Amino acid sequence: MVRCSIGFVVVAVVVLPVFNRTQVVSAKDAGFPNSSTQKAAEKIGTATATGAAATTPEQVKLGSPDLTGGIPGRGPVTNAEIKKWLDNPRNHVPLTPILPYGLVAGAGQIVNLESNPLTRAKIELGRQLYFDTRLSKEAKISCASCHDPEQGYAKDTQFGLGFGGQLGNRNSPVAYNRIFSKKQFWDGRAESLEEQAKGPIANPIEMSNTHDVCVHTVGDIPGYRLQFEKIFPDGVTIDNVAKAIASFERVLVTGPSPWDYYLPLRDFKKTIRADQVNEAQLKADEPELYDEYLKLKAASDTHPISDSARRGGEIFFGEKGSCSACHVGVNFSDELYHNLGVGMDSAKPDLGRFEISKDEKDKGAFKTPTVRNIASTGPYMHDGSQKTLEEVVEWYDKGGHPNPNLDQKIKPLKLTPTEKADLVAFLKALHGDLPKVERGRLPQ
Ligand code: HEC
Ligand code: HEC
Repeated sequence: MVRCSIGFVVVAVVVLPVFNRTQVVSAKDAGFPNSSTQKAAEKIGTATATGAAATTPEQVKLGSPDLTGGIPGRGPVTNAEIKKWLDNPRNHVPLTPILPYGLVAGAGQIVNLESNPLTRAKIELGRQLYFDTRLSKEAKISCASCHDPEQGYAKDTQFGLGFGGQLGNRNSPVAYNRIFSKKQFWDGRAESLEEQAKGPIANPIEMSNTHDVCVHTVGDIPGYRLQFEKIFPDGVTIDNVAKAIASFERVLVTGPSPWDYYLPLRDFKKTIRADQVNEAQLKADEPELYDEYLKLKAASDTHPISDSARRGGEIFFGEKGSCSACHVGVNFSDELYHNLGVGMDSAKPDLGRFEISKDEKDKGAFKTPTVRNIASTGPYMHDGSQKTLEEVVEWYDKGGHPNPNLDQKIKPLKLTPTEKADLVAFLKALHGDLPKVERGRLPQ
């Protein structure tokens, strides 16, 4: 796959200089520096910089700060700086994302890059819009007000806190790893990130604006107008605002966690059927395997994981916890809707997915959220009703809250106190770095 797609890009350079289809590369070794993929990506980057057609796709590692660090410089970005940025062909090259180590296998889940190709210029415009309160009524609220990088791209309040201090009725989910989901919201009512991004702007209890006013306000800011007109043939429109924001969100991905570094080592041990590797013997008998073992061990040792978290992982993926019946894949979500009974004891429960599908079995069902970086995104559940991971684990241990639509996979687990602590430790070990993101540098 790696070789084939690189060959493909190289052919495109020579034969089809205006080829601009983006391609998702799935590389087993994409996360390791100096891998063959990385070298090829660097080569392609150089070719572009030295004058190849601006539409030659460039491979970029998602998570690298140069995508989200803002237009170089300090303070509010000036129009001269914006023009210089827009004049650089490199910023308009369609980008082929390479996912960080740990997420690589999710490449097949990425959608919409064909209709909304990633470019540096579009990601940067989306970054500005994401942090800009001027998209809201009276310039009070931005996307970051409820999906704050300092609060794990979520918000530490039970419900979203919007215009005039109004509270919504659902907890703010995280705005990272959205690249792996087609449908958005707890009930999946938006078909894409592009569709989702338009929602809050016009939602009276969120940003409380109208799309028309938003488009006018943004279009009246010369720095924005310059960017929209260069990036989109039809300039400032609400759809283009959404496309830019969606592009910014797609590059917000979690870096590898201690669990990601540990997993290959665990699997290696399983392959050679040894809990404890006899290093001297392995070295003598299988020097190549021994080298591989040393590499995996070094990677895991530099991102240490506790014994408790390792045991918790076995519970999470094993029969005992069966958490991975729903929290599955690189982003720990089956992208489906389940009823755990959360909020079902209230007088008028939020019926979740049912409101969209009108399917009886969806009553009280919500989309399985990611559990990556979960330790920093509390409170939890669609109604923010659970404050800590300990509470969440207790909820599962007692088998959720009984109601006619309780998912069949939710059953009392009968975990010991140690096992519960292990599960929590595992969830905490799913933490990876998020890209460094500039919050300022907005056009004036
Ligand atoms: C007032 C708080 C608030 C503001 C402002 C806000 N959001 Fe949200 N966001 C929420 C809440 C609450 C939800 C969940 C709503 C639901 O599922 O019904 C949500 C859902 C989302 C989701 C879906 C995540 C998922 O896992 O499905 C994304 C993506 C998102 N918001 C991005 C944005 C963007 C982009 C903006 C700015 C244009 C924005 N939000 C503004 C509170 C807010
Ligand atoms: C039947 C599918 C299913 C199983 C099994 C499952 N989960 Fe969940 N999980 C969900 C859904 C759906 C939600 C959101 C429910 C809601 O808000 O109503 C969720 C929410 C969570 C949350 C809160 C996430 C957030 O951002 O608010 C955590 C943490 C979590 N689950 C961990 C676990 C653990 C640990 C296990 C195993 C003991 C487990 N899950 C088993 C589907 C499942």
